[in-house]
Amino acid sequence: MKKAMLETGIILKEFKKGKIRDIYDLDDRLLIVTTDRVSAFDVVMRQGIPDKGIVLNQLSDFWFRFIEEKGIIKNHLISTELPRGIIGVVFYDGKPFRICQEIGQKQKENLAQRIMIVKKTKVIPVEFIVRGYLAGSAWEKHKRGDWWLKKVRPNLKEGERLPFLLIQHTTKAEIGHDKDLDLRELYQVLERYFGTKEYIASRAETIMGKSFEIYKVASEYAEARGIIIADTKFEFGIDIEGNLLLVDELLTPDSSRFWLKEKWQPGKQQEGYDKQPLRDWLESTGWDKNPPPPDLPEEIIKLLAERYQEIRDRLILKTKKAEA
Ligand SMILES: Nc1ncnc2c1ncn2[C@@H]1O[C@H](COP(=O)(O)OP(=O)(O)OP(=O)(O)O)[C@@H](O)[C@H]1O
Ligand SMILES: [Mg+2]
Repeated sequence: MKKAMLETGIILKEFKKGKIRDIYDLDDRLLIVTTDRVSAFDVVMRQGIPDKGIVLNQLSDFWFRFIEEKGIIKNHLISTELPRGIIGVVFYDGKPFRICQEIGQKQKENLAQRIMIVKKTKVIPVEFIVRGYLAGSAWEKHKRGDWWLKKVRPNLKEGERLPFLLIQHTTKAEIGHDKDLDLRELYQVLERYFGTKEYIASRAETIMGKSFEIYKVASEYAEARGIIIADTKFEFGIDIEGNLLLVDELLTPDSSRFWLKEKWQPGKQQEGYDKQPLRDWLESTGWDKNPPPPDLPEEIIKLLAERYQEIRDRLILKTKKAEA
């Protein structure tokens, strides 16, 4: 099996090391490198998924351009060209693969497929989740019955298309799990973030409106290619000029729940073309969701690698071929 890229060691100032991305500081810009790391239940696994980072980067790149072309909202992406003269160490499976002044051609090609140069922004510390179908934690809440949706639509089944789009706002927890924010709490976070009480409601409304629009056009596009976007998460930031931008990643299998339309059958858990098989396998091991996580078997790694690629092929590659 191909090796996964788990670490990058580029000789640039580190901005942040996320669970999946290594981010370097280029003053008013950032260099984001998407590794092959995979997380579940907020814990990063010890093994990576070969080429997952490449798939995520290609999908975000595609969707950022797509949403911008639709005129909905601008985003942080400046370029996907690897800056010249990158110096560093590239690690595969934890072992330094090569150490040299300027990284070799092969590593450069690999790196080039996983990077983005973006505008540095102040990220709004909220994740905006849009749901078109009832799944995951929303289904869990509905099943338990302690949720408003149960009162208005008591008979909804797992995986069913929702009668209206839902938006949910959660914290972006630095440590531990994200928590739901109600509208009042969302306003408080935005007030703190913008440092003013002025227009907070209308800013929140703008962000939520944009989130719905993105979901609508993206899911229409995906459905035409046999993919259901059951739900997805967006992040927004403000650039130095004060513009609201879509940031982070966009409509990838890490930030969304994807189902194949031909296999969709409400009333049970759907087969997910995202991290779902990993979550299911982890649940089956009885792991308590605290680090260290169990080692992933090869079949799971292979299955995930295939699913990530399948979704990418269906969403972008096959279309490009069809249009060519
Ligand atoms: N344009 C941007 N400006 C500043 N920060 C950004 C920008 N785009 C993305 N980020 C931040 O970079 C990080 C991406 O890294 P990654 O996806 O690996 O992290 P994560 O584990 O999801 O991070 P976190 O735990 O902070 O949510 C996120 O914290 C995201 O908010
Ligand atoms: Mg992230």
